Amino acid sequence: MQSALRRRCISEVRSSSSSSWQQLLSSWYSTGGEGAVERTSFGNLKDEDRIFTNIYGRHDPFLQGAEARGDWYRTKDIIVKGTDWIVEQMKQSGLRGRGGAGFPSGLKWSFMPKVSDGRPSYLVVNADESEPGTCKDREIMRNEPHKLVEGCLIAGVGMRARAGYIYIRGEFVEERRAVMRAVDEAYKKGYLGKNACGSGYDFDLNVHWGAGAYICGEETALIESLEGKQGKPRLKPPFPANVGLYGCPTTVTNVETVSVSPTILRRGPEWFSSFGRKNNHGTKLFAISGHVNRPVTVEEEMSIPLKELIERHAGGVRGGWDNLLAIIPGGSSVRCLPKHLCDDVLMDFDALRELESGLGTAAVIVMDKSTDIIEAIARLSYFYKHESCGQCTPCREGTGWLYDIMTRMKKGDARVEEIDMLLELTKQIEGHTICALGDAAAWPIQGLIKHFRPEMEARIEAAAAAVSEKQQIAV
Ligand SMILES: Cc1cc2nc3c(=O)[nH]c(=O)nc-3n(C[C@H](O)[C@H](O)[C@H](O)COP(=O)(O)O)c2cc1C
Ligand code: SF4
Repeated sequence: MQSALRRRCISEVRSSSSSSWQQLLSSWYSTGGEGAVERTSFGNLKDEDRIFTNIYGRHDPFLQGAEARGDWYRTKDIIVKGTDWIVEQMKQSGLRGRGGAGFPSGLKWSFMPKVSDGRPSYLVVNADESEPGTCKDREIMRNEPHKLVEGCLIAGVGMRARAGYIYIRGEFVEERRAVMRAVDEAYKKGYLGKNACGSGYDFDLNVHWGAGAYICGEETALIESLEGKQGKPRLKPPFPANVGLYGCPTTVTNVETVSVSPTILRRGPEWFSSFGRKNNHGTKLFAISGHVNRPVTVEEEMSIPLKELIERHAGGVRGGWDNLLAIIPGGSSVRCLPKHLCDDVLMDFDALRELESGLGTAAVIVMDKSTDIIEAIARLSYFYKHESCGQCTPCREGTGWLYDIMTRMKKGDARVEEIDMLLELTKQIEGHTICALGDAAAWPIQGLIKHFRPEMEARIEAAAAAVSEKQQIAV
């Protein structure tokens, strides 16, 4: 990554003295730059390759500071290249959505109608961030709000949208204020509104906030909520790209996905795709919480080993790596991994899927050996039961049953055969509901049974033994 040509590209971008920086980067790759060689080790992102250079809020988050960091630099030049160019560059970058599912972003943007049938198209930014353990979008909103606002304009052009809506979780009061101030600043400077950035393109951006329901993060529930209705997911099809907000073509996309797009387009798709393994490209915000010495949200290279991520940035597991019990690597809805699987796994979509877990929101929840993992997963079951919108029977009834059984399991007040019944119940919910909240409720329990069945059995047997001992004493 340190070749002279690459360094020159970066300095050209920064010094704004050349319009040919993308060709320079391309020639670096075509002449056998590191992108041509398949890499086998990942991580230790250099400062010069960070997109979010103010993620800890050490500098001015607003317009002056943002412009000094390179935001809004020649945005007009990007816009005038047009929708097809933007979408093609996003496809080439390999960016996959940062909201959880990891769908390729350029492809998703390309689903929006190319010719309008009279209806306007909308961009909707998902800033609901309610998945337990996840705290990355809020850092962008409060410390880098102009990356988000500029990203909205660029993504809006990429989707042929005339307006965008940022839907912010209700509890994020400071974040909402920061984003609203950034939007105001952008309007005053002529970056938004009519003839945005002097490009001839008109784009309006609105900020809206919810009331703090997890389900409003699901894209169609979010649209319903934005329309002023109860946040209940819609049946698909039709998909939002055909019938979305107010019945118009809409793309809902995550804060981080949108916020990285200006830098990708400035530095070029080859730069972004030089990070991470094939199909898992880019840099990524990881939020590390739980039993680590220094909980942190950090931007790193995709495919960094999980162990290195925790040791390099979070000060390691409390009591050392050998004190690790398990990790939930992608927010509360993915299956947990016991220590032996955490030793070597890479943090990307494909590596974690191979282990039947997932990158999800890249919220890494670390649990050391002091954790009662049955109780921890039972607590998550309570969350999903509480957040179910109640529209479909398997989710409405099933999440309650899961919680009831998990409450007994944590005390050992169950029969060993009930572990299989519990597993069967999760399978009856998974894939049988309108939205993925049903899957999210099922997967943590499936992970528990897959990796910690002996612990569950031991708890049941110990409880049974204690009851029988009591009965003998009574006799
Ligand atoms: C129950 C539920 C909650 C969700 N919450 C969020 C959320 O808070 N933020 C988010 O970006 N995506 C969330 N999603 C995923 C969105 O439906 C959607 O896939 C995402 O916003 C797409 O963005 P991306 O393409 O940039 O990844 C949630 C999905 C479900 C099923
Ligand atoms: S799966 Fe659950 S949250 Fe999703 S629509 Fe059905 S009842 Fe509502």
